[in-house]
Amino acid sequence: MLRKSQTSGLEKVLNRTPAKVIAVTSGKGGVGKTNIAANVSISLAADGNKVMLLDADLGLANVDVLLGLQPKFNLSHVVSGECDLDSTVIEGPQRLKIVPASSGNFSMLDLPSASQAAIIQAFSTLAEQPDVLVVDTAAGISEGVARFVQAAQQAIVVVCDEPASLTDAYALIKVFSREYGIRRFQIVTNQTRDAWEGRILYTKLRKVADLYLDVVLRHLGNVPMDPWLRRAVQEQRAVVDAYPRSVSGQAFKDIARSLQQIPAAMRASGNIEFFLERLLAAGPVRAGGIA
Ligand SMILES: Nc1ncnc2c1ncn2[C@@H]1O[C@H](COP(=O)(O)OP(=O)(O)OP(=O)(O)O)[C@@H](O)[C@H]1O
Ligand SMILES: [Mg+2]
Repeated sequence: MLRKSQTSGLEKVLNRTPAKVIAVTSGKGGVGKTNIAANVSISLAADGNKVMLLDADLGLANVDVLLGLQPKFNLSHVVSGECDLDSTVIEGPQRLKIVPASSGNFSMLDLPSASQAAIIQAFSTLAEQPDVLVVDTAAGISEGVARFVQAAQQAIVVVCDEPASLTDAYALIKVFSREYGIRRFQIVTNQTRDAWEGRILYTKLRKVADLYLDVVLRHLGNVPMDPWLRRAVQEQRAVVDAYPRSVSGQAFKDIARSLQQIPAAMRASGNIEFFLERLLAAGPVRAGGIA
C-alpha cells in the first residue's frame, strides 16, 4: 500500500508521458549485456530521448567501470538516507543518466518494504523523468533477474554463437516463460561474424523455442564481433561514443531505432513507479496468474 505522500508523487508522474522500461538479460555471463545496455542507451539518447540506465547487476556493478565514471553514491545510500536519488545519478555521453548499483551485497529485492517504498518514492520525485529506462541485469536465471524482466515492458535476451550461450538462453526463456509468465523476448545476437551468421543463430533459437515453448521471439538486431568495441572497452568508453562509425557502433544505432518503433506500453503500466511496484511485488506465476 502506498502512503498519501507517495500517491501525490504518483499522480504527478501519471500526468507525464510514460517511460518505456527495457531489461537486458542473458543466460550465460559475459556475452555483452552491459555493452549492449550502455551503447543502446546512448544511441537512444542521441536520437533525442531522455534515457536513464539502471545498473541492476547488484552484485558486481560495472556500467560505471565500462564508461570510466566514478559514482560517489548509489542506491544503497538512498535507502540509508545518506542522499536522494538525484544525487546518485551520474551523466554519461549524450546526457545519458546512470543510476549506479552498489557493489557488495546490497539487493533491492531483499529490502524491507519501507525501504522499497522509499525507492519507489525516490523515482517518482526525480527532477527529470526519463522517456526510457534501460535496466542492465546480472547474468543467469535467478529470481531477482526474473523479477526485473517480469516488471519491464521489453525483455532483451543477448545470445552469442557458442553452444553454452545458446542453451543457457533457451533455458532462461523456458524458465522465465513457464515460471514468471514472460512471453515476449527480443533477441540480440552478439559477437557474430556478420548479419547472416546472426540470423542463423537466431533461427536456431527460434526453431527450438517454437517447438517446445509458448513464447514470441523477435530478432531485434545483430552486433558483429568488433575489435573497435574491445578497444573502446579498454579505453573505458562506449564504442558509439568513441568509434561511432565502427560496425558495432552502427549496429547499436540500428537496435535503438528498432526499439523506438515498438509502440509505447499502456499509459499506467509504462511508468517507472509501476515498473518498480511490479518489480517489488512480482514473483513466480501461480495458477491463475502472477503471484
Ligand atoms: N560485439 C563485440 N565485439 C567484440 N567484443 C565484444 C563484443 N561484445 C562483447 N565483447 C567483449 O565481451 C566482453 C564482455 O562484455 P560485457 O561486459 O558487456 O558482457 P556482460 O554480458 O555484461 O557480462 P556479465 O555477465 O559479466 O555482466 C567485453 O568486455 C568485450 O571485450
Ligand atoms: Mg554486465
